Amino acid sequence: MTTAGLPAPDGCLLAVETSCDETSMAVMAPDGRLLAHEIASQIDLHRPFGGVVPEVASRCHVEALPPMLHDMLDQAGIGWKALGGVAFTRGPGLATSLLTGMTAARALALRLGVPVAGVNHLHGHAVSLRLRGDRPMTDHPLPALILLVSGGHTILLREEEPARFAVLGQTLDDAAGEALDKGAKLLGLGYPGGPEIERAGEGGRPDAVAFPRGLSKADASGDRRFAFSFSGLKTALMVHLRRHPGAAETALADLAASYQEAVADALMLRVDDALDAFPARTLGCVGGVARNRRLRDKLAGAARSRNLDLRLAEPAFCTDNAAMIAASARLAARWEDPAGPDLDILPNWPLDALV
Ligand code: KG4
Ligand code: ZN
Repeated sequence: MTTAGLPAPDGCLLAVETSCDETSMAVMAPDGRLLAHEIASQIDLHRPFGGVVPEVASRCHVEALPPMLHDMLDQAGIGWKALGGVAFTRGPGLATSLLTGMTAARALALRLGVPVAGVNHLHGHAVSLRLRGDRPMTDHPLPALILLVSGGHTILLREEEPARFAVLGQTLDDAAGEALDKGAKLLGLGYPGGPEIERAGEGGRPDAVAFPRGLSKADASGDRRFAFSFSGLKTALMVHLRRHPGAAETALADLAASYQEAVADALMLRVDDALDAFPARTLGCVGGVARNRRLRDKLAGAARSRNLDLRLAEPAFCTDNAAMIAASARLAARWEDPAGPDLDILPNWPLDALV
């Protein structure tokens, strides 16, 4: 991301996140304290469909945004004039959902006469480990290795300068969260699958079924050195269920625990490879799957054994939220005129924008 454009505002920021199925807004003070934050999840509406329905999502955003804006000012105890800029998620995400947030942000910024910043959602996740709620944002020792694991992305990032990221590797097929969501569906569990599998696997044996751990060391070489692959895992579960009819009922805890273990191990294999290859002082993890307790334990173990600072995003800031969009805007955004002709959403905003 570049920092050219209008000067960064020094007052409070309002941020809007509508990239997928969560409508969220935040007000951030200049030091990164959150003065207000709200997330309205649409999960209950999408659950019967087993995934997000874009048309339903965008309609819900349109309904949720105006009352949430007023809540923000009430919660923060500030007036309109205290807002120096408005940040919104520009991409990547669902086009129709992104449009609702951008339109709201532009309209508000025009009315207030302040600049807007279109934020990369992935950059938002990557800086979310700095958020401390109503306390100021934190820094961490650099360089840092950061694992970004969400429903749509699985990326290993290296941070050498604050809030600037280089992509070391990413998934070749499914994301870790997607693997959990698809696995849960196969096991007859609900949506989203990550927390369902975590719950169903409680008390189960993580070594009950030997599911594959992504790319083998031999396959993960050259430009795939830090790449992930999860599509084989989902297929392995499908094959197992075909060979063991009824196992999803009779051995659910073991299956869920083993599946979750395979996802966490596949992630840790590449994290360990990257820590062997590059010096790091901090190990971080962000995104919805970073909520997973098994993964958090494994990351904590890796950090302990290598004497690294561990920075796991707080659970409230792992899944999609506007606080991380405000943080990204504060740290690295390009501020623009809300009436600018080039301002548009970027549903497939490329990863190199993070570099
Ligand atoms: O970051 P996020 O909210 O949305 C995207 O930007 O994609 O991540 C959502 C993903 C879903 O795949 C969901 O199953 C997963 O995060 N997730 C979890 C847990 N909570 C959410 N995965 C594992 N364990 C959890 N506790
Ligand atoms: Zn996300």
